[in-house]
Amino acid sequence: MSDHNGQIADLEQRRAEARMGGGQKRIDRQHERGKLTARERIDVLLDDDSFVELGTFVRHQCTDFGLEDNRPYGDGVVTGYGTIEGRLAYVFSQDFTVFGGSLGYAHAQKVVKLMNLAMENGAPLIGLNDSGGARIQEGVDSLGGYADIFLLNTLASGVVPQISAVMGPCAGGAVYSPAITDFVFMVRDTSYMFVTGPNVVKTVTQEDVTAAELGGPDAHASKSGVCHVIAQNDVDCLLKIRDLFNYIPQNCEDLPPVIATDDPPDRADEALDTLVPENPNKPYDMKEVIRHIVDDGTFYEIHEDYAPNLICGFAHLGGRSVGIVANQPAVLAGCLDLNTSLKGARFVRFCDAFNIPLVVFEDVPGFLPGTDQEWRGVIRHGAKLLYAFCEATVPKVTVITRKAYGGAYDVMNSKHIRGDLNFAWPTAEIAVMGPEGAVEIIYRHQLAEAENPEEKKDEFIAAYRKHFANPYIAAERGFIDDVIVPSTTRQRLINGLEMLKNKVVHNPKKKHGNIPL
Ligand code: HXC
Repeated sequence: MSDHNGQIADLEQRRAEARMGGGQKRIDRQHERGKLTARERIDVLLDDDSFVELGTFVRHQCTDFGLEDNRPYGDGVVTGYGTIEGRLAYVFSQDFTVFGGSLGYAHAQKVVKLMNLAMENGAPLIGLNDSGGARIQEGVDSLGGYADIFLLNTLASGVVPQISAVMGPCAGGAVYSPAITDFVFMVRDTSYMFVTGPNVVKTVTQEDVTAAELGGPDAHASKSGVCHVIAQNDVDCLLKIRDLFNYIPQNCEDLPPVIATDDPPDRADEALDTLVPENPNKPYDMKEVIRHIVDDGTFYEIHEDYAPNLICGFAHLGGRSVGIVANQPAVLAGCLDLNTSLKGARFVRFCDAFNIPLVVFEDVPGFLPGTDQEWRGVIRHGAKLLYAFCEATVPKVTVITRKAYGGAYDVMNSKHIRGDLNFAWPTAEIAVMGPEGAVEIIYRHQLAEAENPEEKKDEFIAAYRKHFANPYIAAERGFIDDVIVPSTTRQRLINGLEMLKNKVVHNPKKKHGNIPL
């Protein structure tokens, strides 16, 4: 049966046209490259049939360079909302088949509208980026459009979680929208990000570099730290974003979801009692410690390949989401350095902004020494991690598994900077510095005068170790709340987090702090 004057048929025809984006040929090309289309991506990301599109019929108004004759519906970006495991999320997905996903004024305004909705209604914003950047034909309108988005990314920061997936090109100033958001996912083999591409690099610095080397996922995951999570392909990327939703709340006034588990809260894990080697200089894998403790051994790591001497990621304890920050003795002995500080500080601030309690596993011999670190600003950058832990008001629990030396002891969520519960394993060593260094300084004269300095040094080291290399001096002062049997760590953490669940602490009123950037 036909409707009045075929209006509904006309609507459906227009909608079908919009769904074809830049046409079958370009869709095929997208598929040949191993990429899904903008709409297929949304289908994988969101719960079945939950997506509601907004702005389907938006078109650009540009009349330059012949664009007046080429006005595809949607203007190169699909926008709307839907659910992930039943929870609301706003999504924009750039359509590379339309003008290479390039951003013109109308495209930008669709994204802006969505960002305002996300902020006003308190739900995460997910951006799927696949774009040739500013739409060249639209000139300054494109640049203005980007700036409109940057502004809203900034205003939304700390209000709702913002997640970016880079699933194709992301070049020029366009990189700065993902860069402001909380998490950047990149897809192996198909994505790259750079401010200036290989050709400009060649002209300016004479370096020969491919797009992948310059700004592919590996470069950004391990060297620059821009990428938080690498995905193997589009589907993997979208499923990983869905998974992240298991750990994060909808907005800054919401709590993360509680995920039911069969893992008993009082599960004792005997393996932990012998996991730390007897030799204090022998490494072990802190990720193993984490997996033994958290619900079902499931750990969602962030920044896995960047500054691996610090581990950051999400897990559940007794069903509740926690942000874990842990030294990794298996890499650089777990030293803190410039990159670990940047990585840790950003993660701590995300957790604090979004009501995710922090759990710290500590085994840190100190800050990494050297001219490279000092001249690149380990003082300034190290201060970021310290600042982030200091200002955080979420429940904060620390477990010292072994070393807690020097300034790093203070930094890693010590009691002094408002750690709520500070536990130590009996293997903990808490002191200003390790025995070797300490003995060389405080017994310099005695060692110089000794008949057999090496023997004497060993003697001093043994005495120092006996006196300081344990958790009890700190426990006597109340800086450690309890020394716990390692196998009971899970139950102690779950019990502690339950006790802290209604914690309320306010920082002094201010416009904003001035974190040492
Ligand atoms: C308009 C664009 C475009 C752009 C691509 N297209 N980029 N149209 N403005 N920026 C169009 C192409 O004309 C083509 O149209 C279609 O998208 C696909 O592009 P191809 O080149 O065929 O695809 P591919 O070979 O995969 O190469 C992709 C690309 C390349 C590497 C992204 O297109 C490219 O280098 N584009 C220009 C990138 C750029 O310099 N952007 C400006 C960056 S500066 P047809 O009709 O043939 O399908 C910037 C500033 C932001 O973004 C400022 C914010 C502060």
